[in-house]
Amino acid sequence: MDYHSEFRRSVDQPEDFWREQATRIDWIETPKTIWQAKDNGHGEWFPDGVLNTSDVALDANIRAGRGDQTALIYDSPVTNTQRSYTYTELRDAVASFAGALKERGVSKGDRVIIYMPMIPEAAIAMLGCARLGAIHSVVFGGFAAHELAVRIEDAKPKAVVTASCGIEITKVIEYKPLVDKAIEHSSHKPDCCIVYQRPQVEATLQTGRDYDWNELMTSATPIDPVPVKSTDPLYILYTSGTTGKPKGVVRDNGGHAVALKYSMGVVYDANPGDVYWAASDVGWVVGHSYIVYAPLFAGCTTILYEGKPVKTPDAGAFWRVVQDHSVNLLFTAPTAFRAVRKEDPEADQLSRYNVSSLKRIFLAGERLDPPTYEWLREHTRLPILDHWWQTETGWAICCNPVGIEMMETKPGSATVPSPGFNVQVVDLNGSQVPAGEQGQIAVKLPLPPGCLTTVWGDDERFQSSYLKPITGFYSSGDGGYIDDDGYVFIMGRTDDVINVAGHRLSTGEMEEVVASHPAIAECCVVGAHDDMKGQIPVGLVLIKDGATIDHDELEDELVEMVRDKIGAIACFRRAMVVERLPKTRSGKILRRIIRQIADGEEYSVPSTIDDPAILEEISEHFRA
Ligand code: COA
Ligand code: AMP
Repeated sequence: MDYHSEFRRSVDQPEDFWREQATRIDWIETPKTIWQAKDNGHGEWFPDGVLNTSDVALDANIRAGRGDQTALIYDSPVTNTQRSYTYTELRDAVASFAGALKERGVSKGDRVIIYMPMIPEAAIAMLGCARLGAIHSVVFGGFAAHELAVRIEDAKPKAVVTASCGIEITKVIEYKPLVDKAIEHSSHKPDCCIVYQRPQVEATLQTGRDYDWNELMTSATPIDPVPVKSTDPLYILYTSGTTGKPKGVVRDNGGHAVALKYSMGVVYDANPGDVYWAASDVGWVVGHSYIVYAPLFAGCTTILYEGKPVKTPDAGAFWRVVQDHSVNLLFTAPTAFRAVRKEDPEADQLSRYNVSSLKRIFLAGERLDPPTYEWLREHTRLPILDHWWQTETGWAICCNPVGIEMMETKPGSATVPSPGFNVQVVDLNGSQVPAGEQGQIAVKLPLPPGCLTTVWGDDERFQSSYLKPITGFYSSGDGGYIDDDGYVFIMGRTDDVINVAGHRLSTGEMEEVVASHPAIAECCVVGAHDDMKGQIPVGLVLIKDGATIDHDELEDELVEMVRDKIGAIACFRRAMVVERLPKTRSGKILRRIIRQIADGEEYSVPSTIDDPAILEEISEHFRA
């Protein structure tokens, strides 16, 4: 089958297409209904199917004879540890953890928050929830206590699973005090906290609420997979929206398993036994889909890496992991390779290792800038494959479909729509714009399996954020164009979401924090270009009349507030005091122009601007 025929079939006969794909996973009850439409073009995939995601990920591989194959390799340069689990060992650990959760009163449909560093126990906790039919919500370890509290408040978990600490290169970050603070600040209180004690730090446990992971695992009775409906939620993953409140993206069980299994073939051309490494974090969607679930659905060996691309110990770290574990497929964010290239511009480190096992390198999470693409291509001589996706979709919306047909790559393009995603570039009325012209990138409904089913506890927000803006389409929030050959070029967000070192953050949320400073009258945060991290946030602040505060001191306080409320990963390090902000006559801040000024780009002065002279003042500030 060639790509175009596969794509056409997926969008012209979606039910037949996905019925066939559904046969590739093990169901407890095979679905008879493939698609059930609901409202606004949305609906449910495989509504009468019954399965268990941990069964698909683990037990199904054991039934297929892969029990002794390595399922997961933990590689941690920050602790000098390497450990691996066969499919049988991982299944046994997951079954015990699911049993431990059950004994602590967690059952099907209950939420469990997982706030953990990159250790195998994080994956075991996720799969353990799936085995029990509980809904996990993993919170990235770099988020501060306040962010964790917001998620606890929204998801109302019965249990929180954490570790005593995370390790950031050489810095040991205690997690338990952050969890304690988050629970204290949340009006919802989980019944219990399960803590994995790492040798670097011993966390203090509160009697009656906190339990030691190892003690629970020793006494737990392992459980079998609990049957769940295809449409039951597998997880909630919070992601940044345009407001301060993150959106709880809900993923189902059945659509997720079918779509991810399919993606491992079409997007990555991965086969059972391949060693697949997504160098990301379990706290992000890449970690959910391609560290934990998809490689296991496909019978691969997955790598869980607790380290950085540089400094652990050097810019050869990725090549060392590839060599040590004979990695076949590597997936990371462009920023990781920008960091490597900065420290090792001639790729001298690459020649120190034998990376002959590596077949392809995949990049996503932010725009793949042509210089990074060219550098990787020149030094590795491997296919460098950009693909575009989002937390909401869970798998690639656009990719080079190497599992069907390797297409020619065009630097700057994520190639073509993945089968299942009817991608179009439209204006706000949903009319297609001509090839080569920029517009909103949207996906004609229905979305394929694996995409978000709603926003947790707020279906109205789901409808208004994604379905209502353009009737009949899913609004991606990204802008871009499709060229004459059908290649899709993603040019960036059209909303206030920014991407800092492959981490999705909301400028709106940072503005809320900055605005809460007593001396601030008004503020605006934009994402400015950064050579290494893609974008970094920059604040423009107006001081209240009469407030007397030294500007450097104010900047330090604002930086500290954002670190404290959101986390160090926000990389908020600059806040400039300005006299005025550029606005339209109706009072809307002209953020796009501020961004263009910050990046030194040409901009046209809009006719709606209140006072054009402000733009020159802002330019002066950036030049200074
Ligand atoms: N827990 C606690 N703190 C964390 C953290 C975690 N899991 N991850 C990052 N941080 C902290 C860092 O310690 C740092 O704190 P500091 O300001 O006190 O030094 C801050 O957040 C910023 O970290 P980071 O974004 O990692 O910047 P860096 O300059 O240390 O490293 C890169 C730059 C490019 C090496 C790094 O950002 C990277 O590896 N990026 C790849 C991201 C990625 O894989 N994204 C997944 C999407 S596919
Ligand atoms: P996240 O939900 O964290 O995965 O972030 C999704 C956003 O990252 C998208 O909406 C895009 O803005 C950006 N993004 C992801 N992959 C790419 C890519 N390959 N090219 C350009 N932008 C990307």
